[in-house]
Amino acid sequence: MVATASLSCENAATMKVLVTGGCGYIGSATARYLRENGVDVHVIDNLSEGHRAAWDGPLEVLDLLDRDALHAWLKGQSFDGVIHFAARCYVGESVTQPVRYWRANTVPVIHLCEALEGVPFVLSSTCATYGEPETERLREDHPQFPVNPYGATKLSAERLLKDRSAVDQGKCALLRYFNAAGASTCGHYGEAHDPETHLIPLAVWAALGSGQRLSVFGSDWPTPDGTCIRDYIHVDDLAQAHFQALQRLSSGGASDAWNLGTGNGFSVREILDAVEAATGKPVPHDEGPRREGDPARLIADSTKARSELGWQPLYENAAEVVETAVRWHQQHPSGYAS
Ligand SMILES: NC(=O)c1ccc[n+]([C@@H]2O[C@H](COP(=O)([O-])OP(=O)(O)OC[C@H]3O[C@@H](n4cnc5c(N)ncnc54)[C@H](O)[C@@H]3O)[C@@H](O)[C@H]2O)c1
Repeated sequence: MVATASLSCENAATMKVLVTGGCGYIGSATARYLRENGVDVHVIDNLSEGHRAAWDGPLEVLDLLDRDALHAWLKGQSFDGVIHFAARCYVGESVTQPVRYWRANTVPVIHLCEALEGVPFVLSSTCATYGEPETERLREDHPQFPVNPYGATKLSAERLLKDRSAVDQGKCALLRYFNAAGASTCGHYGEAHDPETHLIPLAVWAALGSGQRLSVFGSDWPTPDGTCIRDYIHVDDLAQAHFQALQRLSSGGASDAWNLGTGNGFSVREILDAVEAATGKPVPHDEGPRREGDPARLIADSTKARSELGWQPLYENAAEVVETAVRWHQQHPSGYAS
């Protein structure tokens, strides 16, 4: 059954949902989105990467790796769904610290599943589970051969949730994001990672003079302007999809995977142009060699999410996404610290 926005709102009023990593970038945007739509949201976060100021609702500061503490907190509580964002998310770090990544990105899923049998589970997954693209746009049935430990840990979490679903221990929605980007339109919430590795914040900081010169990894890719092409999806559009996926599971829909990207690719150079237009300043940058493991293009085919979830991204153009990020960084030069 396809969840529509209106159906979602009716059902949401009675829903109690656990959001892990709800003080992080995408988790906090989703927690706020759910709350605005009538959901009773409870966040768990250990604040290792997240920010207390990103979420002003119920928060349990707890490490999901601490099985006893997690199970003790969950005991006697009942949730209509769990949305699991908490993870380590740096591809490069996952290559140098694989054991840490396997632990951080798989053990919490096990701990949650042990305590939440039967509860619908929405997982933050990633296009990194696909590995090297074989097609111009990636569909959900594209082969999954991740080329780094980060992608492999997320694929394992997907597999665990599929196995759990197969024996009726709880349905799952596996949401594979492409490049999350942008900030809330109100300008109060945005991306604040440390270290920051994502192109848009790094380019904005470079333009505003609050960060280093940007390194562009390769200008000889087989793309029209020689730089890598990615699919930038606004964080609020991701939030919308989580709400719809949860509604779909709650209203009888089967476990499945959905890509979350706009389907529009933008090159690094086009993003720098957008940052320059939005800030009115040049982006100081150097063109360096290619980075190992980077595909030339990563673009979603998100037909399935649009048709089955009723998902309608509001931001289809990266320039609009960049504008929201610029506003956030201009108003919060030190992130949540400001
Ligand atoms: N940002 C992207 O472009 C992107 C793309 C694809 C997938 N994802 C996935 O989306 C999710 C959220 O990404 P993000 O950019 O918001 O990351 P983030 O680092 O901003 O948020 C993660 C949150 O989880 C918390 N956390 C981490 N480990 C924890 C633990 N053991 N116990 C409790 N809390 C813990 C952190 O403190 C943080 O608040 C991640 O699972 C990531 O893999 C992100």
